[in-house]
Amino acid sequence: MSELNKIALKIVSNGKGILAADESNGTMTKRLEAVNVTSTAENRLLFREILFSSDGMKEHIGGVILYDETINQTTSFGGSISDLISSSGAITGIKVDTGAKDLANSPEEKITEGLDGLRERLKKYYNLGARFTKWRGVYKISEKYPSNLAIHSNAHALARYSALVQENLMVPIVEPEVLMDGNHSIDTCFKKTSEVIKKCFDELILHKVDLTGIILKPNMILAGKQSNDKISNEEVSQKTLECLKNSVPSEVPGIAFLSGGQSEIEAVKNLNLINKNNNTKFIMTYSYGRALQQSALKTWSKNITDIKATQNIFDHRSKMCSLAAKGKWSNELENK
Ligand code: 13P
Repeated sequence: MSELNKIALKIVSNGKGILAADESNGTMTKRLEAVNVTSTAENRLLFREILFSSDGMKEHIGGVILYDETINQTTSFGGSISDLISSSGAITGIKVDTGAKDLANSPEEKITEGLDGLRERLKKYYNLGARFTKWRGVYKISEKYPSNLAIHSNAHALARYSALVQENLMVPIVEPEVLMDGNHSIDTCFKKTSEVIKKCFDELILHKVDLTGIILKPNMILAGKQSNDKISNEEVSQKTLECLKNSVPSEVPGIAFLSGGQSEIEAVKNLNLINKNNNTKFIMTYSYGRALQQSALKTWSKNITDIKATQNIFDHRSKMCSLAAKGKWSNELENK
């Protein structure tokens, strides 16, 4: 077993998943201002530190994705953030893309940037304790989109990124996110997501990426947010499994879904059924941002010194996600 494969498995095994706490300062500012908390570097650290030192973190989180600001911060007890994460048994990860920009010659679509100087930045992050990384390609669905140009160029960037990350002894999370926005049907999401993922693997293979040392972070197969179709959680799980079974090479050790704007409950219900019905050999778990943090953030905003109340909410959410990663979540446990 390669070292990279071991790291990937450690992050996603035994019902553990990933806490995606890598919101950029811009995104985190929006999240904090929405609950009337001032977005200072100190407050951003305070909220994250509360989560990273919780019991839920020890029991249910195998890896945490950080943003550049956070990995460079010192905890209020004086240690490094990476040491705080390791002390709970989780692995430190870092977002290394520099964001999605307008795609030249198809400006309504996005291309993710950040390849220039990446090798040097990776060395710095490794020295700060990171052992895995994230890069997110983003695709929108409409009649014309995603275009072949967006599918091809984002897959190429994801593959070049992954090769550099493995060269620097870290596990790349490959995140092609087909957005929920739009009124498209679940079948359109299935078709477009399949095309996007297949192209990513064509490029990863071309770039000689070791597929046993990556984690795929896809969207689930859902109808568009503005669509009126009523799709059951069962259908979401079946279509998601079918898409991944047909598009992902079997060497890939783990798949960790993004929540992508689903509510906390929808995100666990769907993951739970995906695991109950899992007819693949992939480990299927979570790499949630909003679906792990939303309620905790709301509670914290009412009194930012009440650490226990915030941790209690996070402990419950992470426990529900972990149960879903084992196919053992239920409404009764949710409401207990
Ligand atoms: P959400 O779960 O909030 O979609 O965030 C996951 C993530 O890391 C998006 O890149």
